[in-house]
Formats: sequence, structure tokens, C-alpha cells
Amino acid sequence: MDKTKLSQFKTQFATDVFHGLTTFPKKISSKYFYDEKGDDLFQQIMDLPEYYLTGKEFDILKENKADIGEAFTSKEGFDLIELGAGDGKKTKVLLRHFTEAGYDFKYLPVDISGNVLEQLTQSLETEISGLRVDPQQGTYAEVLDRLSAYKKRKKVILFLGSNIGNLLQEQAIGFLRKISAAMQAEDLLFIGIDQKKHPKKVLGAYNDPTGVTAAFNKNLLTRINRELDANFDPETFLHWPVYNPESGVAKSYLVSKKEQTVQINSLNLEVVFGKWETIHTEVSQKYDDHSVGWLAQEAGLTIVESFSDSENYFKDYIFKK
Ligand code: AVJ
Repeated sequence: MDKTKLSQFKTQFATDVFHGLTTFPKKISSKYFYDEKGDDLFQQIMDLPEYYLTGKEFDILKENKADIGEAFTSKEGFDLIELGAGDGKKTKVLLRHFTEAGYDFKYLPVDISGNVLEQLTQSLETEISGLRVDPQQGTYAEVLDRLSAYKKRKKVILFLGSNIGNLLQEQAIGFLRKISAAMQAEDLLFIGIDQKKHPKKVLGAYNDPTGVTAAFNKNLLTRINRELDANFDPETFLHWPVYNPESGVAKSYLVSKKEQTVQINSLNLEVVFGKWETIHTEVSQKYDDHSVGWLAQEAGLTIVESFSDSENYFKDYIFKK
């Protein structure tokens, strides 16, 4: 997002890796997980039994699609904008129902990856006939800017999968404020937020025994090797997730199993790791109704309605201005 620091490096990725590995404690943003391999690994994560988030949200949408449709529709119809659409597996439940119910609506999936959007658009064409799709390629910020001028009829913004959890609470408020600024009085934000629950359940979601999540985390090092000409050996790092039930913060780390020096040629950088030194790579914030209420309030939004699964593992909230 911060383009002011681009000066000495070619890409935002190079800039962020440089800063993240020359600061203490070391850190790299989880937004860099999602290269081609990372997209594939995340797809596998969503199918893991331990990773309950996807299945629970799927159940919520399936169970409540009629009520959700009632909340979304209006006399002039509506435009459904999805931030980070991905493969659309969960959204298709809604899209199919809305189409069958004869709602007047258009679906605008937003993704940074043109490739993802193209695949999604094609699969929608064959699976849901009559659906109107208008893919929007770009970052959330770019697309929100573009779409705030979209004032012809009701807008519904979808932000599923607890993607908001990747932001620390202060950043999450900033992000919601931007969404709020793009909304009019009748517009809605439909947002999926993973809930606090038994700490073992939360931790287990980021620590699967098959090692898919570990590979997902370590893929960051492989990406640095490839894109920035570096020589990380991912096998010399541990995947280490932790969960703090007080703050609701799940964090993932890469922990160096030995003292080592890594060359990152494109950055002209040597990075020294002490034995057991960490790189912080991801935040996955968990919420409860109280903290969601606070989040909404701080962003100038109010909660209209919420939907949850039978175990209250996950919730989808409808916010308005
Ligand atoms: C896509 C951000 C919701 O934090 O749960 C899954 C990403 N990381 N396993 C999450 C993720 C490790 C995921 N989000």
C-alpha cells in the first residue's frame, strides 16, 4: 500500500522484504503468501478438516441464503461487489440462489490476480446461466476508489473468509473506514469473521498434521529465493503458530533452527539469523460479538444482523453506515 518507499527497490515486495528482514524482530507480511504456489496451497488448506473456517462459512451461507437475499435485494436491484473473490466456492451458493429467486443484480468480483478472475468468470458462465458478471482487477483500495462513484443503486460489499483477520485491529478499523467511505446510506457490507473459541481448535487450524500450513508459511522463503535471487533453505526453518486466547490473536512464525546467513542478491543483502530467531509472518485475529461491535463503531458502521453456524465457530455480519 505504501508506495512512498519504492525508491531504491524495483517492487513493493523487494522493499518490504528488505525492511522486514533488517528490522528486529524480523517480519514479512502474509499478503506475500499468495503467489501461484501459495494460491494452490491455500486451496488445499481450505479442504483440511482442521481448517474449519471455510466449511463453517459455507454452512452459514447455505443455511441462511434466503434471509441474506431478503436483506440484499431492493426495488432497483443491487450490485454485489466481492473483495478477494478467489475461486468463489462459497459465493456460488448465494449467486445460485439469487439467480433462481430472479433478483435483479450484477456480480462484481474483485481480485488482484487477473488469472483468478478469468477462471472464476469462466466457471460462473458455465455453472450459473443468466448471471451477470463484471470482473474488477486491482487492489481493494483501487477498486473501492473506482466503485465509490457507483451510486446508481444499492451496493452490497462482500468480504468473506475472515480475511479481515489478517489485519491488526487498528489496520482493520482503517480498512473498514475506507469501505464505509465508499458506501451510501442503503449500501451494506457483508463480512465473515472467525470467532474466539477453544484455543486448541484455533491453534489446530494453523497447525495441521499433514504439514500443508507449514508448506504455505515456508513458501514465503521459496518466493524470496525465486523473485529476489536468495538462498534460503526452507528446511532449516520451523513453522510455529501460536494463539493468545486473551487478545484473540493467532500468529505464525518461521523459526530458524540454526545460526545461519542468507544471501538475498537482488537486495544486495546478507541476513544473519541467530539460532531460534524468528520471522513473524501472519496475524489471524479472532473476534467475538463485543469486539466486532467495537470494530464497527470505530469505523462508523453498525451491525444490522448476524448469522452463525450451530457451534458459533464463525459469523457473518451485515454492517451498514
Ligand atoms: C485467508 C487470511 C483467512 O488467516 O485463516 C490459512 C489464511 N493462513 N492458514 C487465515 C491462512 C494459514 C487465512 N485467511
